Amino acid sequence: MVGILGPRALSWALVVLATGVVYTTYIHNIIFLTIGIGREIQPIEDFPWICTRVQHSLLEGCEDLWLDDQERKLYAACTSLDSRQAWSPAGDKYNISARSRTDHIAVLDIDQPGLDGLYGLRQLQIGGYHDDLDLHGFDVRNIEGRLRFWLINHRPPVDPVTGEFLDASTVGANSTVEIFDLDETSETLEHVKTVASEAIITPNGVAVEEDGLGFVITNDHNTKTGASRGLEILIGGGSLAYCRSDTGKCHIAADKGFSMANGIAHDKNGHFYVAHSVTGLITVHKLVNNQLIQVDSIHTGYPMDNLWLDADGNLIAAAFPDFIAFAKSTMDPYNVVAPATVLSINGIANQLKTLGKNFKVSKLVEDRDAKSLPSSTVAVHDVKGHKLFLAGVFSPFITICEQLPHGLRLSGELAYIATKHLTNKALAKANPYAFDQSGRIKSAATRIPEDPAPLARAHGLPLIIVNKDSVPLTRRPFALHSAALKSKSDKNLKGAASAFTIGTILHPGGMPLIIAMSPDTNPFRAAGEFTLWVKPSFSDWTVDAVLDELGKVGNMRQNDILGTFAYFKQTED
Ligand SMILES: *[C@@H]1O[C@H](CO)[C@@H](O)[C@H](O)[C@H]1NC(C)=O
Ligand SMILES: *[C@@H]1O[C@H](CO)[C@@H](O)[C@H](O)[C@H]1NC(C)=O
Repeated sequence: MVGILGPRALSWALVVLATGVVYTTYIHNIIFLTIGIGREIQPIEDFPWICTRVQHSLLEGCEDLWLDDQERKLYAACTSLDSRQAWSPAGDKYNISARSRTDHIAVLDIDQPGLDGLYGLRQLQIGGYHDDLDLHGFDVRNIEGRLRFWLINHRPPVDPVTGEFLDASTVGANSTVEIFDLDETSETLEHVKTVASEAIITPNGVAVEEDGLGFVITNDHNTKTGASRGLEILIGGGSLAYCRSDTGKCHIAADKGFSMANGIAHDKNGHFYVAHSVTGLITVHKLVNNQLIQVDSIHTGYPMDNLWLDADGNLIAAAFPDFIAFAKSTMDPYNVVAPATVLSINGIANQLKTLGKNFKVSKLVEDRDAKSLPSSTVAVHDVKGHKLFLAGVFSPFITICEQLPHGLRLSGELAYIATKHLTNKALAKANPYAFDQSGRIKSAATRIPEDPAPLARAHGLPLIIVNKDSVPLTRRPFALHSAALKSKSDKNLKGAASAFTIGTILHPGGMPLIIAMSPDTNPFRAAGEFTLWVKPSFSDWTVDAVLDELGKVGNMRQNDILGTFAYFKQTED
């Protein structure tokens, strides 16, 4: 070959070949995977969630979340956005003096939204620790009935002799892991110890082993500072450090093949799942002879941040479907919100055993138009409460999503009406709770008022339809409001109603119907526009006009039609 082509041609061929290799592996990754050119992003209406933003200064810049599904509390590691923009060592931001020094763990009672919709938001106190905290990822374990927190802390570097700050853009952050125990009565995090080690280079995520002693941190880069960090997006970088809480010792336990190691989760079988932000890989590691050897890998096709293993064993990932938009949102977080995707690898332990390389990755929710979700770096799935919590390192709010009641149960009245108007097959398909396989009403099925109210969408807006005084709205999270719904003149209702409007719009047979609604938000709390359907008089909204909008459903009584229609519309999508 060499003789025919000559050395010069050969070297050109090698250059072309090398370029091809670089193109296919790196450039292709950057264009199609990281930036996401050509990726289909779906609108949030395609997914069965009602999502509400919760905005408060205590919920800014929350990089990571942890759910206590037993005690029904959500913990968030937050700061202020100004601070994130000044001091984010992971993003090469090193202005020590511009930190707000307000980093904190925020707490929400996830089943008690309260009338202000803030879920009893407060922050944990700190005891026995007198420096600032500069938070990032964290993990929590229940150890003998007490919650222990492992918090990544990006301390500013300090000259040990003079006590002055060093130039962090040269030496980087002095990142450590702080261990705290939560005193639940005083809601105070009591400092247990600081774990400092050379193996904790650029920590991002942390996952604690079952025994509550061993923990693994991801280093998102190879070095704290320096020009080579920029190249790592192309050539990869990062590592895993394995540490012991008792001895405070850490060592690098894996450092090959990472591409911005970021989120990490741990399961009961001793697997660690690690998200590679740039390549969209999730690698699976096991501790063998103090090394975290890679036993598997999963291609998700999305750049990702944090991972969460939910109570059903599904691995949930906060992904970036449009990385350029995410980057923009970090620069102007109050005005720009990026699309977000939440991926789920259902039953990951089982998939590891049975499917080999053919992992199934599905979308739990996506928000193409950034209507409700934050520019998310973490998503946590609450299996018990049918909720999703999302937060973002550069977001001014978090978002709480509640699953729309698919398979919603019918009131006795609606079940009866449905049997008159639908085929047995349709009944069984539409509502397995209320009807058996041959379409007969199940006698054991519970009924409203236990059950959720009928729910519909019209003009793309969710509607909850209630029969005043006869069918109070009783979806459990809204139980607080249900009494108030019984009477429009009730002062509780007036108090609760600031975030929503209800009004009588139909008067069939003297039975007023109430329609309460809001845009894509929790209908009973959120601010926004919600007056479209609610008119002070009937003059501009006739029964026919409403039915036209909701669809025409035979010749039932008008209020039945609305209720029934609302229900079946809901289960159809
Ligand atoms: C760091 O932040 C302070 C306070 O906001 C500002 O005055 C200073 O110019 C910043 N320094 C750099 C290097 O950007
Ligand atoms: C880093 O933090 C550790 C733990 O507080 C401290 O002992 C050490 O002096 C710090 N180093 C620098 C360079 O700030």
